[in-house]
Amino acid sequence: MKILHASSEVFPYSKTGGLADATAALAKAQAVAGHAVTLVTPLYRGIREKFDGLKPLGRARMPTKVWRLEPSPNLTVLFIDEPEWFDRDGLYGHADDAERFIFFSKCVAHLAWRAEIVNAHDWQGGLVMPLLGDAPVGKVFTIHNAAYQGCFPADKFELTGLPKSFFDWRQLEFHGGVSFLKGGIVFADLVTTVSPRYARELLTEEYGCGLEGVFQARGDALTGVLNGVDYTEWNTTDNPHLAAAYSADSPDGKSLNKRALQRELGLPLLDGVPLLGNISRFTDQKGIDILLGALEALIGSGAAFQFAGLGSGDPLLEKAMSGLAKRHPEQVAVKVGYDTGLAHRIEAGSDFFVMPSRFEPCGLNQLYSLRYGSVPVVRATGGLDDSVIDLGQGEASATGIKFADCSAEALGRALGRALSIYARPKSLTKVRDNGMRADFSWGQTTAEYERLYAKIKKPAA
Ligand code: ADP
Ligand code: GLC
Repeated sequence: MKILHASSEVFPYSKTGGLADATAALAKAQAVAGHAVTLVTPLYRGIREKFDGLKPLGRARMPTKVWRLEPSPNLTVLFIDEPEWFDRDGLYGHADDAERFIFFSKCVAHLAWRAEIVNAHDWQGGLVMPLLGDAPVGKVFTIHNAAYQGCFPADKFELTGLPKSFFDWRQLEFHGGVSFLKGGIVFADLVTTVSPRYARELLTEEYGCGLEGVFQARGDALTGVLNGVDYTEWNTTDNPHLAAAYSADSPDGKSLNKRALQRELGLPLLDGVPLLGNISRFTDQKGIDILLGALEALIGSGAAFQFAGLGSGDPLLEKAMSGLAKRHPEQVAVKVGYDTGLAHRIEAGSDFFVMPSRFEPCGLNQLYSLRYGSVPVVRATGGLDDSVIDLGQGEASATGIKFADCSAEALGRALGRALSIYARPKSLTKVRDNGMRADFSWGQTTAEYERLYAKIKKPAA
């Protein structure tokens, strides 16, 4: 099939979170499976300088310049080059984000002739769906996070060039403004999201972010497909970021990574003390407040453990996390910032990976931790629930620890279970081994997308 993806971030060119990893890996996997895949994304500041081989795209009747890169067979990345909108620092959060992503979506719609399936991602690509009009393509909209909706004042609607009648509560209007996410949901032939449980959660008031009625109205058109992992990026055997290679079959190198991480972060070089890790955008979603409460209580209880954290975002949470590290330097190390290498090293060096998310559409970090032998301790929500098997199911199959309540107490109890399994090396080894052998590669995900695409592909003219 000829597939065109539109994503506002794509690893390694741009990234603020899992969207970049997920779209890059999905496109790559589809290309490997033999499809002709195009990925359209903005040319943000610095990309041209950092990546060799970008060539101008010829013969496109486009509103602006487009650059082309062919990183692997069957895969073309197209970069929308409009300095006025994209040559600046930071991907989002600018006052003119509506203008920027209306422009982006229009460019994507112009490129749709290249494809049989157009798959746009998240609110930044939502308008691609209505802008495609009656183009002879199958329209798929993938939601990686429904909490970010691209809602703008009503006067931005005009810039879309869409018929005035679309500014209606059944279509693009939402609480008096225009919602790009809603546009994607309403006008797509199929809506996908990144785990089966999150697809069910979106239908509820608790998780639907005000759009539950819109999701319910789409009924059968909404499907959850769990993301996969690009194991060529996220692996422990051939990884320049790590101090030592290791694997399920030869796990010894894991302890060298733990020692290296303790040294890098200035934690005491202790053996026999469990090291907990977390890597997050510091937002409400990730439950950092819950994490802070649970860590503080665990320290207060005198439990022996260490914690390594990496993240950035909400300044109050950054301050609170750094403050915890300052007060307890023997136990807690926190780096505020964005650091891909350290992200790999925390996954490899920690014994447990903590994700107390309020909601989590898929979550990639727990999938990475499984492979890295860092036993995930997760709240049972969204993709976290779909991808981790709790200890309660028995050691023979368990891969991690799950808890239900969204509270520091519940997380504290889950961490208590983690510390107690750590004290039983045989059990720990078994659960860790189960996780390291679990396979979340893209094969299954790609097959599921193929099945969905086939349902809506338009017959050749
Ligand atoms: P989300 O997309 O909601 O942030 P995911 O678990 O799907 O959550 O993906 C997060 C991705 O972003 C992972 O690849 C993770 O390593 C990366 N990441 C998040 N914060 C940082 C950071 N401060 N430094 C480096 N990588 C980070
Ligand atoms: C979003 C979600 C995260 C998911 C990622 C990739 O950022 O918050 O749960 O893993 O997208 O789909």
